[in-house]
Amino acid sequence: MQSTFSLLQGAPLLPIIQPNSVEEGLHLAEAIANSGLRNIEVVKRSDAAFEALSAIRQRFPELLVGMGTLLNRNHVFEALDAGAQFLITPTLSEILLDALIASGAPFLPGVASPSDVLMAHQKGVREMKFFPAHLSGGAPFLKALGSVFSDVSFCPTGGINGENAHEYLALSNVKAVGGTWMIPASAIKAKDWSSITQACQRSLTLFQEVAA
Ligand code: 3PG
Repeated sequence: MQSTFSLLQGAPLLPIIQPNSVEEGLHLAEAIANSGLRNIEVVKRSDAAFEALSAIRQRFPELLVGMGTLLNRNHVFEALDAGAQFLITPTLSEILLDALIASGAPFLPGVASPSDVLMAHQKGVREMKFFPAHLSGGAPFLKALGSVFSDVSFCPTGGINGENAHEYLALSNVKAVGGTWMIPASAIKAKDWSSITQACQRSLTLFQEVAA
């Protein structure tokens, strides 16, 4: 099983984008690349998602591009066909976990409870997404999980922002944080790509301060 977190290392911030067209996806990827961030999760929540991911891979080979919101076996293999370099799910089932393992790609299955973590752990998975992080108990919950599952690392997403990201990044069992706060919806609407670059740069600075 390949490690997702070893891929994300360096700047373990995962901006999550939901492009509504290939063109929008390329603008968002360019804005993120210009900030110095290197990782992107494209969520499969729009008709353009697969095509946008493929276009981003082609245009920005220096970026590491994964696909999220995968809910079943077909999604997993369609994402790989589109060029996804890692796979993320918002939640899990045994069937979904088996598909992720069979894919051979790095992946983070979504967990929100100790029983979810146990299910993935029993399949040998040690890297997981914690979602929806804020609503599921936030950083204190992850800290408590750490005392039971000391060999599991997490990427929390959902409700994370510039004000609370440091609470998660300070935990030893958090190896990355993700979210849409780095990609303000108002900037997408206004096609203000440079302010997205600035928002990503602010997140990168925050991460560097916590890591120092
Ligand atoms: C996800 O897929 O992880 C979430 O949609 C991100 O949540 P956020 O918009 O609160 O960052």
